[in-house]
Amino acid sequence: MAHKVTLIPGDGIGPEVTNATVRILEATGIKFEWETFAVGAEAFKKSGEYISKELIESVERTRCGLKGPVTTPVGEGFPSINVALRKKFELYANFRPIRNLPHIPTRYPDVDLIIVRENTEGLYSGLEHEVVPGVVESLKIITEKASTRIAKFAFEYARKNQRKKIHCIHKANIMKLSDGLFLRSTRAVAKNYPEITYGEHIVDNTCMQLVMNPYQYDMLVMENLYGDILSDLCAAFVGGLGFVPSANLGDGCAIFEAVHGSAPDIAGKNLANPTALLRSALLMVRHLGEHAASTQIRNALERVYRHPQKLTRDIGGQSGTSEFADAVIEEMQSPSA
Ligand code: NAI
Repeated sequence: MAHKVTLIPGDGIGPEVTNATVRILEATGIKFEWETFAVGAEAFKKSGEYISKELIESVERTRCGLKGPVTTPVGEGFPSINVALRKKFELYANFRPIRNLPHIPTRYPDVDLIIVRENTEGLYSGLEHEVVPGVVESLKIITEKASTRIAKFAFEYARKNQRKKIHCIHKANIMKLSDGLFLRSTRAVAKNYPEITYGEHIVDNTCMQLVMNPYQYDMLVMENLYGDILSDLCAAFVGGLGFVPSANLGDGCAIFEAVHGSAPDIAGKNLANPTALLRSALLMVRHLGEHAASTQIRNALERVYRHPQKLTRDIGGQSGTSEFADAVIEEMQSPSA
């Protein structure tokens, strides 16, 4: 039976990395039925809507999406499609594993960190207004319900996956009420998981601590904006934004996408590294129960990374996005695989 998946190629480098990823997924022989939709400015041109009713109905049906990045206009224009989808489907947990791929020279080898980011509130609530000309207010929403829910997600994951340590990242010294509530909610959940070491660090100190010694952390749980910023920082440990996958998880619904954005500086040039979206797709394939296929792709990907000339330019190689995908597929089909 084919897996029905809602596919959102996005814009910028989105269609290039999505096309590469879909080709690799299909080379496993698993059958997918893709329901493909445009979003954002492209969708608006065609239908007058940034997110179509048909797309919403598709996700309600498939409960599973694979999404390329989507451009959000800076300082004007329509609100983020990414944030809207996360809210619409209550995808409250943004799960971002930060792991090195073998053979990629990075400043720190063997990094194995997990960022768990609250995905539905904080400053991403998009509640901004002008109080008087020259003065705006942006509301940071933190609720006990959502804070407890994300903390439980992190601790449950740690328990099931033998992770040892969770740090709650906050700025409760300044935002005593909002981050204070997030912190107290996480602390309360932590008490039910005595086997997991629990710590608390202030977000600015965490940036410095991470750069000095990323190995001191195991899992980090935090509100929305800190998760966004620390994810990019941590991407640098494993080779950059071309490498870090993410899963937006809710109860019975999930959308998988890379951490990176639409990279307008390299869009349409066959330069993007599709590894981050491919690794996100591997999370999806495991979510769909196809563990053998996930291992097959991961092994092929790791073998391709042994050959510097087969890599994309962000990591010092010579290949384009599509040639990189060809190399992964070739490895999957090689008799020695
Ligand atoms: P970005 O992640 O698109 O790019 C930052 C830098 O990393 C650029 O130099 C880019 O060339 C490089 N880069 C990113 N992905 C890469 C890849 N796969 N391979 C090689 N190099 C890669 O961040 P930026 O420029 O801040 O955002 C551009 C747009 O993307 C904005 O409109 C932003 O709102 C949107 N965005 C969308 C996201 C999503 O759809 N989930 C997430 C983050 C940003």
